[in-house]
Amino acid sequence: MAKTVKVTYTDLKPPILTIQDAIAAQSFFPGNDQEVIKGDAEGAIAAAPHVVTGEVFCDTQYHFHMETQVCKCTPLEDGMEVQASTQALDSVQTAVSQATGLAAHRVYVSVKRVGGGFGGKLTRSCVAASACAVAAQVLNRPVCLSMSLNYNMETIGKRAPYLGKYKVGCDADGRLLGIDYQLYENQGCCSTDSCLDYAVFFADSAYFCPNWRYTGTACRTNIASTTMTRAPGAIAAHFFMEHIMDHVAATLDKDPGELRRLNMFQAGQRSLTDNPITDNTMGQLWDDLVESAEVQRRKEEIEQFNQTNRWKKRGLSMVPIRYPIHWAGIRFTVFVAIYHSDGSVVITHGGIEMGQGINTKVMQVAAATLGVPMETVHVMATNSLSGVNSSASGGSVSSELNCKGVLECCRRLDDRMDPIRQEMGGAPKWAELINMCHKKGVDLSEKYMEYPPPTAEGTQYTTWGATCTEVELDVLTGERQITRVDILHDSGESLNPDVDVGQVEGGFVFGLGYWLTEQCKYDKKTGQLLTNGTWDYKPPTTKDIPIDLRVTLLPNAPNPHGVLRSKACGEPPLLMSCSALLALRQAVRSARAEVGHDDFFPLDKMGTRWRLQRVPHLAGHMGVMCQCHVVAVATVLLLTTRWSCAQVTISPSVALPEAATSSPLLQPSPTATFNNRSIGTIGLIPQFSLLPEFNQ
Ligand code: MTE
Repeated sequence: MAKTVKVTYTDLKPPILTIQDAIAAQSFFPGNDQEVIKGDAEGAIAAAPHVVTGEVFCDTQYHFHMETQVCKCTPLEDGMEVQASTQALDSVQTAVSQATGLAAHRVYVSVKRVGGGFGGKLTRSCVAASACAVAAQVLNRPVCLSMSLNYNMETIGKRAPYLGKYKVGCDADGRLLGIDYQLYENQGCCSTDSCLDYAVFFADSAYFCPNWRYTGTACRTNIASTTMTRAPGAIAAHFFMEHIMDHVAATLDKDPGELRRLNMFQAGQRSLTDNPITDNTMGQLWDDLVESAEVQRRKEEIEQFNQTNRWKKRGLSMVPIRYPIHWAGIRFTVFVAIYHSDGSVVITHGGIEMGQGINTKVMQVAAATLGVPMETVHVMATNSLSGVNSSASGGSVSSELNCKGVLECCRRLDDRMDPIRQEMGGAPKWAELINMCHKKGVDLSEKYMEYPPPTAEGTQYTTWGATCTEVELDVLTGERQITRVDILHDSGESLNPDVDVGQVEGGFVFGLGYWLTEQCKYDKKTGQLLTNGTWDYKPPTTKDIPIDLRVTLLPNAPNPHGVLRSKACGEPPLLMSCSALLALRQAVRSARAEVGHDDFFPLDKMGTRWRLQRVPHLAGHMGVMCQCHVVAVATVLLLTTRWSCAQVTISPSVALPEAATSSPLLQPSPTATFNNRSIGTIGLIPQFSLLPEFNQ
């Protein structure tokens, strides 16, 4: 339908696409700025023996949920039924009510589950639902809206790109003395989902610095308005601090792991946002991982390997996380009922099942509290009646808070049934107990709204973790393999270790896509997104995951502030995935050092192979090899497709590295054209080479 609409633009100006474009054009959203001051950063940096300055960038990311934005609206005699794929049922109800003019009590919204959300269905599902509801209202018939992947990718908005500018003062040991830090967020064409105020909580990662000046600036650009994406803002702020640690280590010629350990928060210290550092298991966790992952031995092996291999290099990086959990003011309404006919238990809670396992966890809590088997418990769709006014599912707290609600409901039900249980001898069969309660008029349903108050500390608790990643890089092609990952994650006393380990693994791999394979490209003249499908945009697949992935949940770590002593783990592990990129930098650094370039270099545009091939003083080798692939592919094309009219020209221009010349296939030369058209790096990344716009 949308394809039939033709739009003609006049007075076209070059679009503002990047943060750098926005800074040059002074294009900002006034009023969204942020400043946090702690101590005297300027004075501390001026007096510091060493000062490190730099810029670091991290890009956008598409959510890549398997199900795009989908909604079905059915007009009823007294309102509208909306089956939405949303993480925010309450917002969808409000949006549909406003779009159709129906009062909220005439809009019934239900969500059985969503086919992946990752933050992309927090605010954007309202747009899809409103459009669908208006169509259903006008046509007076059921309407189903399902966005194509291409439109979803182009219009819905993605993770905001960030730029960080920093000036850091430290002593001779690398102890942080003062940090002056500017964070820029690309919010796109309108500022609906700013994550700046959330990012600041992660800006100091797990490290103490007594003096800070932190500013956040919201950039206005012509890309689709950016939106929440798993660990929004947090992933960038945390990564920037980890990048700073690597930069300081490289400048002072220190081991990056030891420098991190030196600066880690100690008991009694306060974060940049002035939150006390409580329940700090970071140091212990870090030391445990160093030992269990045999970091020292492996580092020595890597050094040995790198010395004896010219075209393969390895790198290893360790990264901690400090993930403060906030849930004050978030509310979820939960309803639990027991049917008298067979004693089966039904739950509807206010959270959304999107694959994170919330339904499994609430069922477990109900089964354990009521003392019935899991099969007796069933979770029905979240809906706007029993889950009235519930908050959106996000921030990694919905599983815990809905478990808390179910726990309260079940405890109250149990208390009401207990006198009857005692009358029946103390241990009647479940079905008989329920039957008797029903006969005696006991109310077998309970509702509870969980609405935690703010705490004096500002946060509820902190989730800690540490990751060690080892990467092997093929210097000639840019191919890399993550050979081993060790993750030690503090999930408190896990509500379900299987689910939580799945979340740790999934979160980590989500991040591998962000750092290593996914990349968005825009047409510089029109601003159109060029990477709007799987031909061009590459989420990680089976071949990209670590060969050896070892996830351990910190044992014996009950969390006194969590629900049933647990901790959140939907988003925190994602942050640790930057260790893969940092390990890759170690490998690249080793390759560059061999040709006399041992300086620190930014890696923010390095992760994907395309970007890796452009790293200064490394690209030369890889460029040659890419083009060797061109020759190989061109030869195969000629032999297999018999394009007799095709003319493949191969013209020598660059001397091949020794390793490459040993292959008979790669003998000719690095430059190839096909029918007088350069076929660039077709052997490696065809999707980029065929479009001239990609050669940015
Ligand atoms: N896991 C799967 N399989 N699918 C998802 O969409 N969303 C993530 C994470 N894990 C997601 C997921 C995001 S963005 C969040 S905020 C948390 O789950 C939500 O989990 P919670 O119920 O614990 O808050």
